Amino acid sequence: MSALTEQVGAELTALRDARTYKRFNTLESPQGPVVRMAGRGEVIVLSSNNYLGLADHPEVVRAGIEGLERYGAGTASVRFICGTFEPHLELERKVADLSGTEAALTYVSCWNANEAVIPTLTDSTTVIFTDELNHASVIDAVRLSRPAEKVIYPHSDLSRLREGLAGAPSAARKLVVTDGVFSMEGDLARLPEIVELAREFNAVVIVDDSHGVGVLGETGRGVVEHFGLLGEVDVLTGTLGKALGGAAGGYVASSAEVCDLLQQRSRPQLFSNALPPTVACSALRAIELMLEQPALVARLRENTKTFRAMLLEAGYRPLEGESAIIPIIIGETADAIALSERLLEEGVFVTGFGFPVVPEGTARIRVQMSAALEPEHLERAIEAFRRVRPS
Ligand SMILES: Cc1ncc(COP(=O)(O)O)c(C=O)c1O
Repeated sequence: MSALTEQVGAELTALRDARTYKRFNTLESPQGPVVRMAGRGEVIVLSSNNYLGLADHPEVVRAGIEGLERYGAGTASVRFICGTFEPHLELERKVADLSGTEAALTYVSCWNANEAVIPTLTDSTTVIFTDELNHASVIDAVRLSRPAEKVIYPHSDLSRLREGLAGAPSAARKLVVTDGVFSMEGDLARLPEIVELAREFNAVVIVDDSHGVGVLGETGRGVVEHFGLLGEVDVLTGTLGKALGGAAGGYVASSAEVCDLLQQRSRPQLFSNALPPTVACSALRAIELMLEQPALVARLRENTKTFRAMLLEAGYRPLEGESAIIPIIIGETADAIALSERLLEEGVFVTGFGFPVVPEGTARIRVQMSAALEPEHLERAIEAFRRVRPS
């Protein structure tokens, strides 16, 4: 055995010993409210980001097939050489319209979008302010940037943010970066106050609204619509891999100048292939469907409200929140994983998260709602929750 294999083997053993080794489940059917899972049969999914149930919507699938037939499998190029196709531009106009911004630019993922925009907007004077619970892609993007200073403020602690902003040099470019919906807590950024602080201290606000778009706001435009702040946030990033069809892709929505600079300068844009046109076509149709059918967002909201009430009634104490993420704190990692396994045995798929994804002692199961869930799915799911409830 080579030294590398031995070292890697030891690392894997440590993961197994710590019970943080992940086992993957294989789906044999499209993502939906109920899926066929290898070795498990039919399972109700309360764990996907398919918030609006559009991942297997016939029109989203059809749009992808038409895109595939018309434009081929992919771009075989980065955007700036010969990889810009009509659906990219059409999708970007639609995303800008959705976000209330002048322009938008797509990437193959929101991970890439974050790694593009944060370093590109960081100059040698920049101070970056970032919430401690921001998504891993934001954390990595901040690490890739080379700011003059980085301030990680405690979760949603705006007095600490204010202190930091007040202490930064007045000539410095200040970037405040926050998730719109925090993915492990399900709570929302305190955006009205953040925007106000940014105005007071002449800072730029960057919001990753991956879990907010398609979920929050009357028409699903996300956390900015929820708080009446459409057009008031400097930079929005988001994913096309959750509510908006679930395939893949991400975007930055901002001013025409910011998007132009990102096209010129951002490394994931310059050195990585563009979004496949087939994926762009599916995402475009998904956004159109969301806007044409406001009942989808309303249904998601209704399901979330109903299932929260059912959980409470069944003796669970979910964290409060307005998003479609409903975390239930269990405590120890092993207990959260065991509960999620028991639920799966009962035919309900809910993921358990433990340390190091969340702080020690706050392991949890995370329920995610979807507009595609029917009342009978919720009923069956809550029966399973009742049967496995820890005493
Ligand atoms: C807040 C947030 N940002 C970014 C991402 C990454 O999105 P993508 O899958 O498009 O890279 C996620 C996905 O988990 C997320 O929750």
